[in-house]
Amino acid sequence: MSLSVKFVGGNVVELKADMVAIGVLAPSDDAKHGNLSKFDGGAQLDDALEGWLSQLIAREQFRGDVGTTRVVPLPSDAGTQYILLVGNGRPNELTLQDMRIIGAKVGQAAECLRLKSIGGVLIASTLNNLGPAARLQALVEGIILGTYRFTKYKTSTEPSTLKTVTLIAGGNRSSLEKAAATAIITAEATCLARDLVNTTAADLTPHALADVAKKVAKTNKLGVSVLTGKALEKERMRLILAVGQGSPNSPAFIHLSYKPKGKAKRKIALVGKGITFDTGGLDLKPAASMITMKDDMGGSAAVLGAMQAIAQLKPNVAVDAYIATAENAIDGDAFRPSDIVKSRNGKTVEVANTDAEGRLVLADALDYAVERKPDVVVDVATLTGGVVVALGEQCTGLFSNTESMAEKMMAAADTAGELMWQMPLLKAYEDGLKSKVADLSSMGKSRASSITAALFLKQFVKGTPWVHLDIAGSAWTSESMTLAPYGGTGAAVRTLIEFCRG
Ligand code: BES
Ligand code: MN
Ligand code: ZN
Repeated sequence: MSLSVKFVGGNVVELKADMVAIGVLAPSDDAKHGNLSKFDGGAQLDDALEGWLSQLIAREQFRGDVGTTRVVPLPSDAGTQYILLVGNGRPNELTLQDMRIIGAKVGQAAECLRLKSIGGVLIASTLNNLGPAARLQALVEGIILGTYRFTKYKTSTEPSTLKTVTLIAGGNRSSLEKAAATAIITAEATCLARDLVNTTAADLTPHALADVAKKVAKTNKLGVSVLTGKALEKERMRLILAVGQGSPNSPAFIHLSYKPKGKAKRKIALVGKGITFDTGGLDLKPAASMITMKDDMGGSAAVLGAMQAIAQLKPNVAVDAYIATAENAIDGDAFRPSDIVKSRNGKTVEVANTDAEGRLVLADALDYAVERKPDVVVDVATLTGGVVVALGEQCTGLFSNTESMAEKMMAAADTAGELMWQMPLLKAYEDGLKSKVADLSSMGKSRASSITAALFLKQFVKGTPWVHLDIAGSAWTSESMTLAPYGGTGAAVRTLIEFCRG
């Protein structure tokens, strides 16, 4: 989708758009219906329509709760065809996430009616501490995220219709234009991650993922290099090679780099798990657990999406992205439970279970990343089923060896509108990673599998400030949500972008 956001002056009654969205404010008491606002043109339009809108709101007992909508068709088919009454909740309680939901609902209504343009008024004043630019950014993000569709494998689909958002806006035009551009870049990066997760593993092999990374790098002027075959051996990335050795689709290690124009304030490393399909290997997954495993490259998709946005937003930090990609499949060459593999950093690892493959590829990637001395390394991975049990389908598990980094990442997630929750790196379970025959076992002993997986990764960051995001639950949604339809969600993309910009 390419959405264009325009700003105009003038009067809502003369606004040129197929549909004009008007806010309905929820009452602060238990009144049966909400009210039009004087500030976003609602009262004016109501006057022009001889009170028809306020009558409808009362008759339908429309409360104006956030994201609820009513479509009001207009009699003439010249000019504006519909007014959309959209619940804005209570202005003193408004959040950025409310703005995203409002955007999504407006966008969905427009797509549903197959309209090309929507319009409205962006109130210039600050609402509940949120300025117009911040609200606009969330609104535009919501429109794009909420109208995302994945149609690659449908042989006949109606193309999406919505192209233009026209807003009557006072205040600082250039700051609004910047906010809209940021929103489009951020949302499109999220949609790139969704597309990659939704693409079948037959089509998105490790080498296909590397090709996508090269294309993203070329379009956005990022540095890129891809290691495969002998080059991986030369780099001693034997864990990545071991995980991939049972698949004809051989592994790859992708490095993307962004450098700012001036001197970089910080150097950030992003590391993504890119298992293009996780059968579990010889420790085969049962069918019900395997069905969504094309999403096991969700971490690499997040990192790639974030790099695209970072290249476009040009923050004042250097960012390197490292993607370890392989297919965890089975043939006669597949790695075995009990195999012992020497990791890139020299520690030997006993493969306790071939289904614990994510931490293996990440171990080599983290070692490569921290060797380049970043100020902070962030890995993103669909790592453990345990995090889904702990935090459910919508929330990312966050681990860190540096409290200030955990706080920064939590704050970034909050601003970006993504659910994350910090989990403990319990020292008590670290002993469980000991192996009788190698330096480390790939599996801990505690049933807290998300924690033991994180503790395993910690062995490879050499004390570098590090944040680990376990997106096993949040990378995929089996139920359509307001901001993400069925399938890949693009989890962590927006948080990574916000983290790198902050
Ligand atoms: N890719 C899975 C984790 C996963 C589970 C992602 C559910 C998305 C949804 C990972 O490779 C895995 O299989 N983890 C195992 C590790 C275990 C064998 C130690 C797990 O968590 O069960
Ligand atoms: Mn696995
Ligand atoms: Zn996996």
